[in-house]
Amino acid sequence: MANLSVNIAGVEFKNPVIPASGTFGNGREYEKFYPLHLLGGISVKGMTLNPKDGNPPPRIAETPAGMLNSVGLQNPGVDYFIQNELPNLENKGTVIIANVAGSTVEDCITIAQKLDDTCVDMLELNISCPNVKEGGVAFGVSCQSAAGITQAVRKATKKPLMVKLSPNVTDIASIARAVEDAGADAVSLINTVLGMRIDIKNRRPILKNNMGGLSGPAVFPVAVRMVWQVANAVNIPVVGMGGISKWEDAVEMMMAGATAVQVGAAIFSNPYCPVEIIDGLNNYLDDSHIADVNELIGCVKPW
Ligand code: SIN
Repeated sequence: MANLSVNIAGVEFKNPVIPASGTFGNGREYEKFYPLHLLGGISVKGMTLNPKDGNPPPRIAETPAGMLNSVGLQNPGVDYFIQNELPNLENKGTVIIANVAGSTVEDCITIAQKLDDTCVDMLELNISCPNVKEGGVAFGVSCQSAAGITQAVRKATKKPLMVKLSPNVTDIASIARAVEDAGADAVSLINTVLGMRIDIKNRRPILKNNMGGLSGPAVFPVAVRMVWQVANAVNIPVVGMGGISKWEDAVEMMMAGATAVQVGAAIFSNPYCPVEIIDGLNNYLDDSHIADVNELIGCVKPW
């Protein structure tokens, strides 16, 4: 059996497959399907400083080969997470990644400080949510703002810091370099691609928020392209996500330069998707006589 473990910023993952933030809650619903220790890690739903109701419905729209969401970071707040959700995740035998999605730099600093004394293994700073008026992608579209918030959160925590990047930018490699220079230990990408659908009967956007984030297989080639660009631009690990729904996608993403992958929208239609990807990856490595999954990382040979 091949080695499936990968290391990101000193954190050991038993395999490189992680359910993406916002698609797995805090793991409770999925424990009914399989033990969480099978997973490389879990990125929990993005947390703000105070509880947040999110955007008004409708906030989900179907699209060909994907979905639009405008959830707006609904969550019960960091204190609730620490008191009521984290105890259930602790000792589950998988890496816990806390997704930090504060509305302001100060909020993100406070959230990071609150998480610093917990058993969370790593922070994922979300500077890429397209569905909120304050914070979110506003942090992630310029090198200056991306670096500013990264530096501030870096100073606030001893935990390894991964920064989640937006595809809704002109030059994602520059943003990745800016957060690396500001102290990020890893980057994850891509968050959703800004999109819109219109109900032709009432001539109104389907989403109450008008626009939302596109995810699912439709965005996969965009994600592979951006992961490849970023992996060639930085010296820190890259976690790839965006439209991964089968083990072949995970292999492709790792060949593009990802050290690990996050699986998102696919979980909604197939909760077993992450464990099926782990099994498929394992079989692929054995069938290909590859002893270590790390051999895949960035092995693509561009023409
Ligand atoms: C949301 O809650 O709106 C989605 C989270 C994100 O896109 O980061």
